Parts: sequence; structure tokens; C-alpha cells
Amino acid sequence: MSALMEQIRQFRTPPGSVALWWLGQMGYIFKSPAGTTLGVDLYLSDSCAGAVPGLDLNRRVPVLIEPEELEVDVFACTHNHGDHTDPETIRRLSHKGAMLFAGPPPSCEVFRSAGVPEERIRMLWPGAALRQGDLELRAVFALPTDASDLNHLGYAIRFGEGPLIYLTGDTAWHELVAEAAPRKPDVLIACINGGFANLNHWEAAGLAARIEPAVAIPCHYDLFADNAADPRQFRAALSVRAPRVRYRQLRHGEVWLYPPLE
Ligand SMILES: [Fe+2]
Repeated sequence: MSALMEQIRQFRTPPGSVALWWLGQMGYIFKSPAGTTLGVDLYLSDSCAGAVPGLDLNRRVPVLIEPEELEVDVFACTHNHGDHTDPETIRRLSHKGAMLFAGPPPSCEVFRSAGVPEERIRMLWPGAALRQGDLELRAVFALPTDASDLNHLGYAIRFGEGPLIYLTGDTAWHELVAEAAPRKPDVLIACINGGFANLNHWEAAGLAARIEPAVAIPCHYDLFADNAADPRQFRAALSVRAPRVRYRQLRHGEVWLYPPLE
């Protein structure tokens, strides 16, 4: 078993906290004090490489958990682009029968065609929620970034009475995105790359100013050379637009606890 999957299995999340691990791009694993695990947008292959002629979409972050080894209670996707809903990752999962799979309708189609049993699939849409153990996973409105997929979601994630985490998904900027986002989440995880119509660092900081999270974490800037950005730009934009919001940059494969242990 991969060292990271083993670490996650063994990890005991302190009461009142949430533990999370970043696996690159918008891929995260969350674990609650009760031991419930949620994977979001886990891209554990290199299947986007060569998908768009002329673009370097070779993964630059190693695969930290092979799909065959992945064990989470809920496997959720925000939308049906290959770096978020990856048919190869899903096909190769060994524990499909023991997980729930959640996402918008086009992601559910990929789950089906990759061999996920129908009874394990939960379709989500803005406002709809999935409950599993102490997890409440609520889908949040996100604005599609191009016409290839018109069913984007963000997620509001909470385990029991623990911290509220808002992950934007891939979204373009629109007033309605800020309007629909959860207010005062503990943690905002935002795309900042700006490429392909996603929020850029300035827009992501503007979103943080509107919803006032305690901490903001940049993502979706690291995986592909041709869709990259410098997270320091987000840190700078936050200090101008949302100075009360703490910036936190995660390292791939390292556990991060919120709230942090004193
Ligand atoms: Fe993306």
C-alpha cells in the first residue's frame, strides 16, 4: 500500500477538527474525527497528457496514491473534465463497491461507464446534499468555464459540527457565484489559475473578501505546465482585497489540520 494511503488510514483526526491532504490540482482527501473519509476530484493517472494537441498536460505532481489502493467512503467530483472526473482513475479503483460516488449528472455517467454499480451513485446539483456518516456534502453553484461541460459544482463540506470547508470547483467569476457561496466558511479552497476561464488570483481574493473565510488555500495551479499560476499572486491579492483572511499554501501529500493544534 502507498505510504500516503496508509498514513491516511492510520491518522486519527482530533475531535472538532478536520484533516486534509492535497494530492494536486483540485484533488483532496478529508478525514473526520469519526473516521469518515471524502475524496474530491482525485486525478490519480496521467490520462490528460496528450488530450489537447499543443498543450502540455503531462502531470507534474507524482501520483501519491494508485487508484487500486484508494479507499474513501465518498468519492466526489465537481464536474466532468478529465482532471476532475477521470475515467481511468475510476475504472482502476479496487474498492468501487465500498464507496459512494457523487457528482453532477455528466460525472455520474462516467461513474457508470467506468463500472461503478448504480446503487453506489448519488447525483448532486446546487443545493442538494449527500449525508454519509458524519459527513454532509452540499453542492454549491459554480459557473461553467466553457461549453464542453455545463454542469459544474463547488462543494460545502462539513463533518458533524466541525469546520465548514468551501471548495469552489472550477468556476468562472460571476456575482452569482459569490452570492451562492457559503458565508464565513472556516476554510476556502479556491482555484486561482485564471486559465481556461477559471477564477484568477485576483477574482479568488475578491471571492474571499465577499464570503470572509478564516483561511484561504489556493489550488489548481500546480499540475500542468500549460495551466499553471504562481500562488504568491493569490497571497498578494488576498493581502490587498481580504487582509483579514489568512493565506495558507499546502504541500502535496502532507496532512493539514483545521483548526490547527495549539
Ligand atoms: Fe480543472
